[in-house]
Amino acid sequence: MEKLQRLIDGYHSCVGFMVIMGVIMGVVYFCGDGNYSGMLLRFDEIGGEGEKMAEEFSFEGCDLFNGSWVYDNKSRPLYKEKECSFMADDYSCHKFGRKDFNYQFWRWQPHACDLPRFNGTALLEKLRNKRMVFVGDSLGKNHWVSLLCLIDSWIAEPSHKVAEWHGSLITFRASEYNASIDFYWEPLLVESNCDDPVKHRVHDRIMKIESIEKHAKNWIDADILVFDSYTWWLEPNMTLLWGSFENPNRTIIESGRVRRYEMALKTWSNWLDLHLNRSKTRIFFISLSPDHKEGGDWGKAMGENCYNETEPIMEQGYWAKGTDTDLMRTAQSVVQDLEKKGLNIQLLNITQLAQYRKDAHPTIYKRHWVPPTEQELAHPIWFADCIHWCLPGVPDVWNEILYSYIRYKI
Ligand SMILES: *[C@@H]1O[C@H](CO)[C@@H](O)[C@H](O)[C@H]1NC(C)=O
Ligand SMILES: *[C@@H]1O[C@H](CO)[C@@H](O)[C@H](O)[C@H]1NC(C)=O
Ligand SMILES: *[C@@H]1O[C@H](CO)[C@@H](O)[C@H](O)[C@H]1NC(C)=O
Ligand SMILES: *[C@@H]1O[C@H](CO)[C@@H](O)[C@H](O)[C@H]1NC(C)=O
Ligand SMILES: *[C@@H]1O[C@H](CO)[C@@H](O)[C@H](O)[C@H]1NC(C)=O
Ligand SMILES: *[C@@H]1O[C@H](CO)[C@@H](O)[C@H](O)[C@H]1NC(C)=O
Ligand SMILES: *[C@@H]1O[C@H](CO)[C@@H](O)[C@H](O)[C@H]1NC(C)=O
Ligand SMILES: *[C@@H]1O[C@H](CO)[C@@H](O)[C@H](O)[C@H]1NC(C)=O
Ligand SMILES: *[C@@H]1O[C@H](CO)[C@@H](O)[C@H](O)[C@H]1NC(C)=O
Repeated sequence: MEKLQRLIDGYHSCVGFMVIMGVIMGVVYFCGDGNYSGMLLRFDEIGGEGEKMAEEFSFEGCDLFNGSWVYDNKSRPLYKEKECSFMADDYSCHKFGRKDFNYQFWRWQPHACDLPRFNGTALLEKLRNKRMVFVGDSLGKNHWVSLLCLIDSWIAEPSHKVAEWHGSLITFRASEYNASIDFYWEPLLVESNCDDPVKHRVHDRIMKIESIEKHAKNWIDADILVFDSYTWWLEPNMTLLWGSFENPNRTIIESGRVRRYEMALKTWSNWLDLHLNRSKTRIFFISLSPDHKEGGDWGKAMGENCYNETEPIMEQGYWAKGTDTDLMRTAQSVVQDLEKKGLNIQLLNITQLAQYRKDAHPTIYKRHWVPPTEQELAHPIWFADCIHWCLPGVPDVWNEILYSYIRYKI
C-alpha cells in the first residue's frame, strides 16, 4: 500500500502542473453556492469586533509561529475559491465536491501579537521592479498559488496580471508594478530524474547529489527566493549519482534520509554562498509541511487518515509522531550556517501551525488532471490527498507571515 500511496503522491504533483497550464489556457469554472453552516468553537474569540489584525506591526517580542487557530467566519476566508483567477484544480476542494466549509474560516492568531492585515497593494509596492521566485516541490506550488489568489483581487485589470508556463518555470507578472512572482519546479533542490515539471512519476528517484547549476541559473538573479523541499525526501531509498545521468562515474543507494538530505542541502547552500548577491537577495526557507496520512497520530484508528476530518487539532503544542524532526533540524542548521556566512535568510517555521490542521487537506475533493475515478472516490483510505492543502486555507497563513517579513523587514 505504501508503494501505491507513493505513486499517487507523485501523480498529484505532476498533475498540478498540467492544471496550471489549464488555468493559463483560460479554463473557467463555476461552483454551486455553498451552504456555509457555521461551527462555533471559540466563541470568546469571535466577539463583536471581528478579527484582531495589526495595521502597524513590529517583530519585537513576537513569535509569529507560536499561536493557535481561531474560528473567524467574519474575516476569513481572505478570498473565495471560485473568484481566484489562478486557482488550480488540485486545491479547489469545493469545486470537486467537499461539502463542509469550515476549514476556510480559521485565522492564525500568534499568542504574543497580531499578524498584520494583508494588503496586496502594499505587497506589490514592495515588489516593484523585483523578481520573487518560489523554488521547490508541489507544496511550494500550493504556497505560490495561494499568494497569487491573495493578490488577485488587488489588481483589477485582468491584462495586468498574467501567468505563463515555460518548462520548469511558471511566471506571474503584475505589469503595472513590473513585478514577477514565479514558481520553479525543483523538488529535490539538486538535479534529479524528477525534474520534468509534468513527467516525474518515477519509481526510482535518482539525483545528481552535487549538481544544481542547471536549475539555479534560472533563479539566482531573483530579489526574493522562497525555498521548500521535504515530502520527496521521505522515499525509503534514493539513488545518488556523481557524473552525468548518461555517464555516471559513481552511484550509491542511500536510505539514510538525514544523510542524503544533508548532502543535497550542502550542495544547495554552497551554491548560494558562492553565487548569491548578498546585498540584493533575501531568502526564505519554509520548514516542512506536515501531512496527515496517519490517523493514529491524533487518536483516530491506525490506518485511517485525514479524510472526513472537519476540525483542527485544538491541543496546544500538538506534535505528530510521524513528523521527521531530524530532517527539520537538518534544514534549520543549514539555514543557520548560511546566516552566519552573511546571507539574508529566514526560516519560516510553519510546521507546527500546519500540523494542527488535519481538516484542511483536499482528500478526494480535487482533480487529478482527469476527474477522480469511481475507485478513488470509493476508497479514500488509499486515495485521499492528505499532503497538499485546500485553498483558501493553510498556505494563506504562510503567506500572511511571508508578507509580514517582506512588508516590515525588507
Ligand atoms: C458565523 O458563525 C456563526 C456561528 O456558527 C453563525 O451564527 C454565523 O451565521 C456565521 N456567519 C456567517 C457570515 O456565516
Ligand atoms: C508559545 O507561547 C506560549 C504562551 O505564550 C508559551 O508558554 C510557550 O512556551 C511558547 N512555545 C514556544 C515553543 O516558544
Ligand atoms: C493598502 O496599502 C496601500 C499602499 O500602502 C494604501 O494606500 C492603502 O490604503 C492600503 N489599503 C488598505 C485597504 O489598507
Ligand atoms: C523590471 O524588473 C526587473 C526585475 O524583475 C528589473 O531587472 C528591471 O530593471 C525592471 N525594469 C524597470 C524599467 O525598472
Ligand atoms: C532499500 O535498500 C535496501 C538495501 O540498500 C533494501 O534492503 C531495501 O529492501 C530497500 N527498500 C525498498 C523499500 O526498496
Ligand atoms: C566523477 O566525475 C565528476 C565530474 O566529471 C568529477 O568531478 C568527480 O571527481 C568524479 N568522481 C570520481 C569518483 O571519479
Ligand atoms: C548586488 O546587488 C546590489 C543591489 O542590487 C547591486 O548594487 C550590485 O551591483 C550587485 N553586485 C553584483 C556583483 O552584481
Ligand atoms: C466518513 O463519514 C461518513 C459520514 O459520517 C461515514 O459514513 C463514513 O464511513 C466515513 N468514512 C471514513 C472512511 O471514515
Ligand atoms: C520551530 O517550531 C517548533 C515547534 O513549534 C520548535 O520546536 C522548533 O524549535 C522551532 N524551530 C526554530 C528554528 O525556531
